[in-house]
Amino acid sequence: MTRTRVFSGVKPTGHLTLGNYLGAIRGWAEVDQHRTDALFCVVDLHALTVDHDPARVRRLSRQAATLLLASGLDPELCTLFVQSHVDEHTRLAYLLECTATDGEMRRMIQYKEKAARERAGQSGVRLSLLTYPALMAADILAHGAEEVPVGDDQVQHVELTRVLARRFNDRYGRVFTVPRATRPTVAARVMDLRDPTTKMGKSHADTAGIVYLLDEPDTVRRKVMRAVTDSGSEVVYDRETRPGLANLLEVLAACTGGRPEDLAGEFASYGTLKKTVAEAVVEVLRPVQERHAELSADPGYVDGVLKDGAERARGRSRTVVDAAYRAMGLLPAA
Ligand code: TYM
Repeated sequence: MTRTRVFSGVKPTGHLTLGNYLGAIRGWAEVDQHRTDALFCVVDLHALTVDHDPARVRRLSRQAATLLLASGLDPELCTLFVQSHVDEHTRLAYLLECTATDGEMRRMIQYKEKAARERAGQSGVRLSLLTYPALMAADILAHGAEEVPVGDDQVQHVELTRVLARRFNDRYGRVFTVPRATRPTVAARVMDLRDPTTKMGKSHADTAGIVYLLDEPDTVRRKVMRAVTDSGSEVVYDRETRPGLANLLEVLAACTGGRPEDLAGEFASYGTLKKTVAEAVVEVLRPVQERHAELSADPGYVDGVLKDGAERARGRSRTVVDAAYRAMGLLPAA
């Protein structure tokens, strides 16, 4: 029996956060790589869609790959690679740009939010920020992925990928598998601790409410203890009216198990909840940080994993992308 094909990725635009870990990476390591045929990717080309420093992107790409391994991705079980090492992604992205419409791209929430942020800065909005979902769809479709495990914020992009795959198949013949997004049951959207109405995002300028995977334990404690909580004093779980508390309860549930609504009843005050959350996060991050320190001492190992991963990923995607070229009417090279 063939195993379900899975693809997902992280973008090296900043240091990885607790949101990335609980919303995506942990599930890849604990569940997906064991039960599926999974590919995980450091999607470095996506990091060029906003104003970037080349040296930083390079550094963050290696760090992201190292952190994925430290989080438990096992190259014996899954394929880990860097997007720019496999040309099929950009080859296919162009065909998908020729399948999608301008209006579809402009409707993407992430585009609207990021374009507004970029406009507020000095630099213009890069065209690639608009076409980003076509590249993301190519990432997924090139590998024939059936499932795409992501946090909430990426679901709209996966939905668009489904639309593009169906449209292509209907118009040019069946080339693509139509994928679906899968999400964790809790912590699919970890919010910023200082502003619980905003997603905890790795590229946000104000870092006080963002827990990074490599934050020292005392930094984690300080950030959690300073989390914005809502007025009132009783600990209840209600995402609408008590977003700050709900976020802390979801993080706790993701770290220790249980349901946020049940955990709420265990705390008499905000203070004890925060202390418990802080220690739970420190404990979840501890093994990841220890393993990251070991792996960082051996960059040759990480490079070797990425080289093998790219070779495997290239082989698998070539057939699909070549078929898409032919289906769209491009003359095969003799
Ligand atoms: P990125 O790098 O922003 O995030 C990587 C993964 O982490 C999830 N995530 C979160 N989950 C819960 N709470 C949060 N605060 C939080 N922040 C991030 C994201 O949903 C994602 O699953 N466009 C993608 C990268 C990408 C991709 C792909 C993903 C490119 N090609 C193909 C899947 C398949 C992105 O920017 O993820």
